Amino acid sequence: MSETVDPADVPRRALHTGAAMPAIGFGTFGSDHAGHDVVAEAVRGAIEVGYRHIDCASVYGNEAEIGAVLREVQAGGIAREELWITSKLWNDKHGEEDVIPSCRQSLEDLGLEYLDLYLVHWPFPNFHPPGCDVSSRSPDARPYVHESYMKTWRQMEKLVERGLVKHVGTSNMTVPKLKLLLRDAAVKPAVNEMELHPHFQQPELFDFVREHGIEPVGYCPLGSPNRPERDRTPEDTNPLEDPVVVEIARAHDVHPAVVCIRWAVQRGQTPIPMSTRRKNILANLRAAISPRLSDDEMRALAGIDRSCRMIKGQVFLWKDGQSWEDLWDPDGEITPP
Ligand SMILES: NC(=O)c1ccc[n+]([C@@H]2O[C@H](COP(=O)([O-])OP(=O)(O)OC[C@H]3O[C@@H](n4cnc5c(N)ncnc54)[C@H](OP(=O)(O)O)[C@@H]3O)[C@@H](O)[C@H]2O)c1
Repeated sequence: MSETVDPADVPRRALHTGAAMPAIGFGTFGSDHAGHDVVAEAVRGAIEVGYRHIDCASVYGNEAEIGAVLREVQAGGIAREELWITSKLWNDKHGEEDVIPSCRQSLEDLGLEYLDLYLVHWPFPNFHPPGCDVSSRSPDARPYVHESYMKTWRQMEKLVERGLVKHVGTSNMTVPKLKLLLRDAAVKPAVNEMELHPHFQQPELFDFVREHGIEPVGYCPLGSPNRPERDRTPEDTNPLEDPVVVEIARAHDVHPAVVCIRWAVQRGQTPIPMSTRRKNILANLRAAISPRLSDDEMRALAGIDRSCRMIKGQVFLWKDGQSWEDLWDPDGEITPP
């Protein structure tokens, strides 16, 4: 079997601007298990095997190392237009004066003149240091305030006007927050990045964004099986061990991870799996071009949603007595301050 995938064979998502985004990307959050150089080498491996969509963020701390790789692959003959590079605005940079410089810093680190997509990483403007414990609380934690978010968004729109980014998007949003943004935005979000795997399918938000011409990008598509202990709770489940996933994997003679990626691409979201191993990097990309799962298999996978959110966001809680569910507007309305 070939050790690479032809990028031309990878499906694409048509965004509302008419642009085409590869329907699978490569994640770059190394967390505790992969240092910056390891992630950068994984990105090199991903591009070598055929990925063209890379999901970066300033808070991952590795954009300079990834940038060195991006420069090299472009010098080696891959044109900038063939790549789809995403980055994200971190939570301590929501201030009106901070958005454009923050984007410029990512551009400089990544060695790019423009980003294909720039996301507001979280709707909460609460700084917390990378790697802090889920029980950590920021003294300057603040709730979601739509007027403040719109000030940030106006600056995101300026980035588009200035040609520094081709598309802007959101991440970790909810239906009520997106409704307000869609009402008030001059430049509509092209993408919403959200947690999506067979144990966390978010059907309501998934349908909402697609109905509004916003592409769902799915993070932790494998349920982030190697996330640090501090990010786990006893209730968490593992989609890779789900009997339905395991059985379908056995029938196709693939790893359960491959089933999760195939399901994601076929359902209509863009998964962004991360791996440091060439074998897994390639297997995940191949999953995007592998034969379709049957209708029965897709139905069985739709039936194993456990509403199990892995990335709960506890560090964004802004006052005592709250539970992490409050961050996700469980009553269909923005949780009051
Ligand atoms: N917008 C946001 O707020 C947000 C939040 C979280 C994540 N993200 C993005 O989403 C990306 C993916 O999330 P994630 O990295 O947490 O989780 P993930 O992609 O669900 O899982 C990654 C883990 O799965 C293992 N793995 C990958 N492919 C495999 C395969 N084929 N077989 C077996 N194991 C496999 C990897 O280990 P090995 O290295 O050993 O293969 C890695 O530790 C991140 O890197 C980041 O870019 C965004």
